Amino acid sequence: MSPDLHTASGSPATVEADAVVIGVLAADGPRLAPGSAEVDEAFDGGLAALLAVAGATGKADEVVKIPTRGTITAPLLVAVGLGTGEVTPEQVRRASGAAARALAGTGHAVSTLGRIDLAAAAEGSLLGAYTFTEYRTNGNGKAPVGKVSLLSDAADAETVVRTAAAVGAAVRTARDLVNTPPNDLYPAVFADRAKALAEAVGITVEILDDAQLAEGGFGGVTGVGQGSSRKPRLVRLSYAGGPSPRAKVALVGKGITFDTGGISIKPAAGMDQMTSDMGGAAAVIATTVLAATLELPVAVTATVPMAENMPSDTAYRPGDVLRMYGGKTVEVLNTDAEGRLILADAIVRAAEDDPDYLIETSTLTGAQLVALGQRTMGVMGSDEFRDRVAAQARACGEDGWAMPLLDHMRPELDSRVADIANVTGARFGGMLVAGVFLREFVPAGLPWAHLDIAGPSFHTGGPYGYTVKGGTGVPVRTLLAVLQDIAANG
Ligand code: BES
Ligand code: MN
Ligand code: ZN
Repeated sequence: MSPDLHTASGSPATVEADAVVIGVLAADGPRLAPGSAEVDEAFDGGLAALLAVAGATGKADEVVKIPTRGTITAPLLVAVGLGTGEVTPEQVRRASGAAARALAGTGHAVSTLGRIDLAAAAEGSLLGAYTFTEYRTNGNGKAPVGKVSLLSDAADAETVVRTAAAVGAAVRTARDLVNTPPNDLYPAVFADRAKALAEAVGITVEILDDAQLAEGGFGGVTGVGQGSSRKPRLVRLSYAGGPSPRAKVALVGKGITFDTGGISIKPAAGMDQMTSDMGGAAAVIATTVLAATLELPVAVTATVPMAENMPSDTAYRPGDVLRMYGGKTVEVLNTDAEGRLILADAIVRAAEDDPDYLIETSTLTGAQLVALGQRTMGVMGSDEFRDRVAAQARACGEDGWAMPLLDHMRPELDSRVADIANVTGARFGGMLVAGVFLREFVPAGLPWAHLDIAGPSFHTGGPYGYTVKGGTGVPVRTLLAVLQDIAANG
């Protein structure tokens, strides 16, 4: 359940609520963040000193709870760390998320973080309060915070919170899709869920089934999907961008609902994480629906290939040559490099609509984790647009770094029989090789970006900020930021 999100004005010292949240900065000891003045006055100006006694330092992710015993109306004060330095929106988002997690089981909380950055505080609350309990039969754990009132005196507060709530909902949708297990979320079901989400906001949906994919010449999706009894799909969602769209953006996302590796089977240890191999698809579906909800003046089309990569007597094999959509041939040397095969079809299909920009995102390589770790997406593509997307990823707090597509790697993909092979003979630069492969299917001159989200889309560690275990919803907020940037600047 999503917490009920509101904006409110008035004093946090006299508001009726179960808890009041304030921010604490880490300076030389804890320092009260802006927005907490009335609460400090109720404590006779001694709140920072009191928090220091309770062990507060103001560092990020720190939560200190103090019973108020009538000093303020609410019985509980929750002091959340904002970290050091100038307070950025991401610091507010994370602190708000940490507070929301600590408020599980609470009915109504009032947060002064809205006075620092209302949108960030709202997004952090919704994302930090996220839980996925569909498969818990014992009601395990406390319910998420029921209602959060964000204090703000801004004239446009209602609008800001409404927008943030839509963003939060889109990220939560992407998380839900990723967290749904692969026995229940397979291509046909995934396609139906995308359709339901799209129809709810009145955007166009087209779904190609396995027969139509084979008939239509989608050799990549057909090849990868043929080993499973759960047949592949290609989903297309189109949002027209209102009366006068500024530009046309094509989104493409990898939708492998489970990746065993196929005949080139993966080791059993850790294979369960391959339930998240549709994180790119989840993000582009959620973002396209979000663009419609926010009525962005940009036309957005999502092209989403969905398949389950299984070993079986009908599976594609190492040595097979696939004829991709558009006619290029690919020699399959490793059936575990399946993402690039379904994406190649989807990229060629997406480019047929003549978009101004193409952004593709995928849990494409383990090499992304080796190169950049678990929290930073690798951003590749055409130079200028790649840098623009990487900058947006950092600005929105999702974090991305530009990586090169090195020309000398292309001959390493030369095939004995086909136009190109799907892997090289070595594991070096694996993230970049995958990008070099995809580049072969992007029309020359089209500004494009490839976001490898293998690590950042699925969180395996303990919770921090607004990030909890499982699907993170990355890169929904980056994609939104890019769409907004295109809406504003073309
Ligand atoms: N889905 C995986 C990549 C992946 C690995 C995502 C770890 C998330 C966490 C992808 O299909 C894959 O198997 N890639 C191979 C490519 C290799 C065969 C060239 C890999 O990274 O090992
Ligand atoms: Mn694979
Ligand atoms: Zn995969």
